[in-house]
Amino acid sequence: MSTRVGVLGGGQLARMLALAGYPLGLEFVFLCPVRDACAAPLGEHLCADFEDEAALRHLAAKVDRVTYEFESVPAGAVAYLDDKVPVYPPPQALATARDRLHEKSLFNELGIETAPFMAVDGLADLQRAVAKIGLPAILKTRTLGYDGKGQQRLHDAADLNAAWEGIHGAAAILEGFVPFEREVSIIAVRSLSGELAFYPLSENHHQAGILQLSTSLPDDPMQGLAEDYAQRLLEHLDYVGVLAIEFFQLGGRLLVNEMAPRVHNSGHWTIEGAETSQFENHLRAILGLPLGITALVGRPGMVNLIGGLPDIDAILRLPGAHLHLYGKTPRPGRKLGHVTVCTDDGGESLQRLLALTAGQGDETA
Ligand SMILES: Nc1ncnc2c1ncn2[C@@H]1O[C@H](COP(=O)(O)OP(=O)(O)O)[C@@H](O)[C@H]1O
Ligand SMILES: [Mg+2]
Repeated sequence: MSTRVGVLGGGQLARMLALAGYPLGLEFVFLCPVRDACAAPLGEHLCADFEDEAALRHLAAKVDRVTYEFESVPAGAVAYLDDKVPVYPPPQALATARDRLHEKSLFNELGIETAPFMAVDGLADLQRAVAKIGLPAILKTRTLGYDGKGQQRLHDAADLNAAWEGIHGAAAILEGFVPFEREVSIIAVRSLSGELAFYPLSENHHQAGILQLSTSLPDDPMQGLAEDYAQRLLEHLDYVGVLAIEFFQLGGRLLVNEMAPRVHNSGHWTIEGAETSQFENHLRAILGLPLGITALVGRPGMVNLIGGLPDIDAILRLPGAHLHLYGKTPRPGRKLGHVTVCTDDGGESLQRLLALTAGQGDETA
């Protein structure tokens, strides 16, 4: 009987995990409350709430391992499953990563730099935090934030009330604004046997808080420091699976922004742009298989398709372009797919791809 992997969530990350798992002979069961979940056509879909005990019991009975595609899966569901079937990445890592205050405190404990931050649980806290950290700054909800959601930027003292109201009284942190030169991320992986592997750094560009472009070049000068920080986290958390870590680069320093205990959008280029994709290595790691080589193939660049689709024929005509559509209905700000080029032509293909995708999904376009 083939090995079955259970995935909490049925979005594009779950879908790409399954696409990577089929060549390895794996089968997939997705637990996701969304009826038309985009991973559903790739395996068995248990369409139920994450806290539905019957569905959780059913899932645990069917699969050999459980993993998840997003940090906000209810802790109770993970604890229930972990009693019955191994869940990786380990629930303790999930608990840390889902809360910005916990994760940033851990980074600092392990000697990893971050922007200055303080917990904020009310307007008085916010005033104290601004007095200490200064402006500009960003107020972020501790949990449930993604794609820039749950964030308010503060430029001057008049912004405090509106920012506090803007996050609807959620437990939050205030973070100093980092005038970074670059945003980079590392996709790191640790297997059940403790084997480690690191992908070459991604350089990331965001628009309105949403990742738009990731590229990767060999021999990034910050590679060594990023790997050192990633290794401290992987070993401290006794981690199993892919861990993505986002950094701000400021001179020769890397300040950690956040970590994600899962496969990550800034690693989508690894599907064609690395010897082994992040999705395959995540599966290998959680199943206790040897990890695959993480070396680059060509010069990868990945562009997200957000909100609307570009001229698909034109994309497909672009030599070396790899199109991934997630089968989702267009909506402003929604990630509908991505395109990767790996051609070593001095960035020409990437420039053509960027021109073809420019302005897609802009509500004004
Ligand atoms: N302290 C900061 N200083 C400067 N830019 C920031 C800061 N925090 C976030 N950003 C910008 O906003 C983006 C999204 O913030 P992030 O904390 O990564 O939230 P999310 O969980 O939504 O990805 C970052 O990639 C970065 O471009
Ligand atoms: Mg982020």
